[in-house]
Amino acid sequence: MPNLIQGEDRFFVRRMREEDLPAVRAIETLSFSNPWSDNTFRGEIQNTSISFPMVVVRRPGEEVVAYVIFWQIRDDVQVNNVAVHPDCRGLGLGEAMMRYIIAKSREAGATFMTLEVRQSNTPALTLYKKLGFEVMGTRKSYYTKPDEDAYVMALVLDQ
Ligand SMILES: CC(C)(COP(=O)(O)OP(=O)(O)OC[C@H]1O[C@@H](n2cnc3c(N)ncnc32)[C@H](O)[C@@H]1OP(=O)(O)O)[C@@H](O)C(=O)NCCC(=O)NCCS
Repeated sequence: MPNLIQGEDRFFVRRMREEDLPAVRAIETLSFSNPWSDNTFRGEIQNTSISFPMVVVRRPGEEVVAYVIFWQIRDDVQVNNVAVHPDCRGLGLGEAMMRYIIAKSREAGATFMTLEVRQSNTPALTLYKKLGFEVMGTRKSYYTKPDEDAYVMALVLDQ
């Protein structure tokens, strides 16, 4: 299990499991106004052909503190969900987790990574721009609660 950040607490990344769902859903509810349901997460866990639901666990203790879910279809990667527990934000975990999946996707031969983000979500937008993502366009009223447009962002991986 790869270590994301070395320190007194150590953070490891591994595939999401059914027993992670209570912790994942708690983070999801604290992070989004329109959270995914247990069944949506379960579907991702079971969709082993294209879906990569990954959690970050803190040791000692083994608590789930963050997760990212992406699909890889041939050379194309779509990031569908990213969240860090509010108590663990600002430690570099979101960036380390994204850098980890970018490296893994490159190794697996992917060439293009895309995601959507609320136009008002400054922390996420700033993170994605730091990682090299660029705004490719917008999707009108992509989000509800509140209604808001999304930026579609993309990162070319084969450079
Ligand atoms: C977006 C999110 C995943 C960032 O995770 P994080 O672990 O707090 O971020 P990190 O500590 O790794 O920060 C990395 C970079 O992100 C950017 N960033 C993070 N928090 C920020 C903030 N509050 N304001 C502006 N930029 C911010 C900065 O560029 C930062 O780099 P720096 O420290 O060199 O300035 C986290 O805020 C989160 O879970 N938000 C709620 C869920 C969400 O919005 N998900 C994204 C949906 S598209």
